[in-house]
Amino acid sequence: MIGRFNHVAIAVKNLDSATALYRDTLGADVSDPLPQPEHGVTVVFITLPNTKIELLEPLGEASPIAKFLEKNPDGGIHHVCYEVDDIFTARDRLKNEGARILGNGEPKIGAHGKPVLFLHPKDFLGTLVELEQA
Ligand code: CO
Repeated sequence: MIGRFNHVAIAVKNLDSATALYRDTLGADVSDPLPQPEHGVTVVFITLPNTKIELLEPLGEASPIAKFLEKNPDGGIHHVCYEVDDIFTARDRLKNEGARILGNGEPKIGAHGKPVLFLHPKDFLGTLVELEQA
């Protein structure tokens, strides 16, 4: 069911220094910061030849990554994202398998303007999984 690997997201406390690390030390192609208030994060997209990396910095009081950064003060891998052909078919199949969908179970528009869902890390090897409509 899952298709292409879309991105890995890394939560960071300081987006400027994280972006500089990827741009200057690793020599990657980085975007300008994009605030996404509806998701409580500011995102920098890093484009590699075969995939993407997203750097996430908390935005606002109730950022969903604030707690993660309390536990991981140096930053860390926050989630992985796989593409699916049909987000609703994928959701229904996973629900039938007993997997927990985060939030109200309805897809939201994600960082790339496409519908996304998040799956509970306890059901997926301790890893938060994002599914994105291809
Ligand atoms: Co993501």
